[in-house]
Amino acid sequence: MNILIIGSGGREHAFAWKIAQSSIQKNIFVAPGNPGTAQFGTNIDIDVCDFESHKTFCLANKIDLVLVGPEDPLVNGIYDFFAQNELKHIHVIGPSKHAAMLEGSKAFAKQFMKKMNIPTAQYQEFTATKFDEGIDYIKQHTLPIVLKADGLAAGKGVVIAETHEDAIQTFTEMLLHKKFGNAGTTVVIESFLSGIECSVFVLTDGKNYHILPSAKDYKRIGEGDKGLNTGGMGAISPVPFVDELFMQKVVHNIIEPTIKGLQQEAMEYKGFIFIGLIKVQDEPFVIEYNCRMGDPETEVVLPRIENDLLPLLLSLKNQTLHEHSCNHVNQSAATVMLVSRGYPEQYEKGFVISNVASISNSLIFHAGTKLSNDQLLTNGGRVIAVTSLGESIQDAIATSLDNATNISFEGKYFRRDIGWEFL
Ligand code: AMP
Ligand code: GLY
Repeated sequence: MNILIIGSGGREHAFAWKIAQSSIQKNIFVAPGNPGTAQFGTNIDIDVCDFESHKTFCLANKIDLVLVGPEDPLVNGIYDFFAQNELKHIHVIGPSKHAAMLEGSKAFAKQFMKKMNIPTAQYQEFTATKFDEGIDYIKQHTLPIVLKADGLAAGKGVVIAETHEDAIQTFTEMLLHKKFGNAGTTVVIESFLSGIECSVFVLTDGKNYHILPSAKDYKRIGEGDKGLNTGGMGAISPVPFVDELFMQKVVHNIIEPTIKGLQQEAMEYKGFIFIGLIKVQDEPFVIEYNCRMGDPETEVVLPRIENDLLPLLLSLKNQTLHEHSCNHVNQSAATVMLVSRGYPEQYEKGFVISNVASISNSLIFHAGTKLSNDQLLTNGGRVIAVTSLGESIQDAIATSLDNATNISFEGKYFRRDIGWEFL
């Protein structure tokens, strides 16, 4: 069996690591991959959104399964692209273009949740033609006000305005000044929900589903959850407050209606659903859907899945996921992300990374690295994800912090307070 993983970060390294453990005979290719993924397969220099090159590669190399890591190719329709003609036999893990709109359009996701009665913040959506109505809506809205550019904006499209003036300014910048380009052609204005966030992950064939381990990521650059948003500075799994009772509510109020909604709306989905939740007085509300796994959430979720992942992925095509079990290990996992000084703004690349090979009690997932003359160099803002398993969250975090300290490169920075609420 030949498998192509699309993407180049810690998430894709974690997928390659997990799939490499499968008892099924396989060859793994990763496009474009990184030095971490190269330990488990062959890296192919193809951009994640270059569908034509993927097609040529997949046909030439008899690829059977394509696992898509990031959202861009999914939202751009890679699933539908592979569903055509001579690619039909290749099985893509992900949603159809229609279903990927759950992540690609915040207005679409809100409409879906409203229709399916899934708990989420109250909202209205506006385009430039309804600019004045939007301003009136903002003026009578309670504070703070959440404004969201409808389309993909690399995690930057959400603004929480503390005053009506700020909200009006943001609304104007998004809709009229095109601050987020076409992503801001529609703006969702929604109520602020106050609570603690977590994420649940679902693997579905569109009919059946398995719930994967829960996780919480730490998005802000600074300790104490301060400063700019990043792709994610660390993650833990499981999330201590996601207990059985809360999970029952998540299943009943959110997961079941989501899967039912996919069927009702004929949204083909054979992949991962990442549901960003907020717990408000013991009740779960959906903050967002993502149509893929999270990064760095994948780096704590996959190490906690006991089963061989490949048979589960293969079962999606024929909608036989229910024939496979998906058990979680009891151990806890924690990831600490090592980043380059300056990230998420300007940062330098090309610094030598040392002491990675000597680490034996953590999993090292490469996020932004490259090899040059056999030397490992930094090659991104997020550089390395250090994941550890432990008997408790505390143990797992302590090991990851220890190794985060041991690995060195110029300008290294990491948060020492991952999991702080639970320590
Ligand atoms: P999103 O891109 O939709 O995940 O939003 C990014 C972040 O903004 C979320 O992780 C939350 O921390 C915050 N956020 C989004 N919507 C809301 C809301 N309605 N109430 C409170 N916080 C929100
Ligand atoms: N860590 C957040 C994300 O992957 O969207």
